Amino acid sequence: MPDFEPKIVAFVCNWCTYAGADLTGTSRMKYSPQVSIIRFPCTGRIDFMLLLKAFASGADGIIVSGCHPNDCHYSSGNFHARRRWIIFRGLLDFLGIDVRRVQFSWYGRWGRSRATSACAAWA
Ligand code: FES
Repeated sequence: MPDFEPKIVAFVCNWCTYAGADLTGTSRMKYSPQVSIIRFPCTGRIDFMLLLKAFASGADGIIVSGCHPNDCHYSSGNFHARRRWIIFRGLLDFLGIDVRRVQFSWYGRWGRSRATSACAAWA
């Protein structure tokens, strides 16, 4: 039986996590080819219904990652995303999707090395 290789979809903010993922590449570190990164200008712009679409399309896990609190490039987009995430968790539960399949995280603007490490850990 072949090893299980989960398909991960990462919805990331351009200003922190995507920059970290980019730095991962330029630092010649690797992250798993099973991770598909979708870049948004801000986590506040993520329509959480896209997460359901990703699950329906075969994603095994989802990462949503944006700027650290009070560090959002658009001042409060990450707080809007957090509010939506709290509501969305209930919907996932209602639909019978394990909430642990979605990881919601924040990285500070200056924490790109942490984001880089996280991207490498996705490998
Ligand atoms: Fe990164 Fe808003 S700009 S979460």
